[in-house]
Amino acid sequence: MSQITLEASDLSVKYKHRLLFHIPSLKIAPGDAIYLTGQNGIGKTSLLKVLAGIQKPTSGILNLRKPTLMQRLAGFAGQSGVIYMHQAAYLFDGTVAENVAYGLKGRHFCQRTCRQLTMQALRMIGLESLSREHISVLSGGEKQKVAMARAWALNPSILLMDESCANLDPDAIEAQKVMVEDLLDRGSSLVITSHHPNSLTACCNQRWSIESQRLIHKPKLNLINKDNHAVAS
Ligand SMILES: Nc1ncnc2c1ncn2[C@@H]1O[C@H](COP(=O)(O)OP(=O)(O)OP(=O)(O)O)[C@@H](O)[C@H]1O
Ligand SMILES: [Mg+2]
Repeated sequence: MSQITLEASDLSVKYKHRLLFHIPSLKIAPGDAIYLTGQNGIGKTSLLKVLAGIQKPTSGILNLRKPTLMQRLAGFAGQSGVIYMHQAAYLFDGTVAENVAYGLKGRHFCQRTCRQLTMQALRMIGLESLSREHISVLSGGEKQKVAMARAWALNPSILLMDESCANLDPDAIEAQKVMVEDLLDRGSSLVITSHHPNSLTACCNQRWSIESQRLIHKPKLNLINKDNHAVAS
């Protein structure tokens, strides 16, 4: 299945005279699941924001190849474009359910479908019982779960997850993994940043790292788990 492909060339971000990175070319194709690593302050968030189109690069061209008419007819029309999940969950004044439903409003779904998708997303992430709570009473991890539920409900073509499991317990990381696998099955692509490999990053089929202002394509790590099975990290 073929959906949105994101290509970039000559991409750089510079703050004042400090070059964060220069990337001659980059491609994210449908089905790509990329684990992006790099030290604190190296430029991961800046790169994701540039890819999401919410930050202008210092140089470079971004090209989003949209689905063809045939692909849209084959069912890709329900997908949204690139979604960036902020490192600190970015939520609106309202209830948990309103936050998840927010993005669906512009998607031509009827109210019933919006409600069903919202509740399904909250069920998958384990927040159904808090759907009517105001966002301000939630814990940090719960807020990250709301952000994940909202992103999943939108069925993005490309999901950029910036340390989305930093505050999550192992069960919540598993729930995020199930949602991410569902998106991959539907032809989305993902970039996930995390300072710690976990079951979510193990879903990734590529590993990138920002080092010395360059984007390096790394071999996937193969860790041995408790049962002596190799797992990707
Ligand atoms: N608007 C800005 N103006 C100046 N400097 C900035 C700006 N935004 C980010 N920076 C700097 O750019 C560097 C890279 O920031 P970025 O958030 O991309 O790093 P990161 O790799 O995501 O780090 P972390 O792992 O801590 O999240 C940091 O040193 C940061 O202070
Ligand atoms: Mg960051």
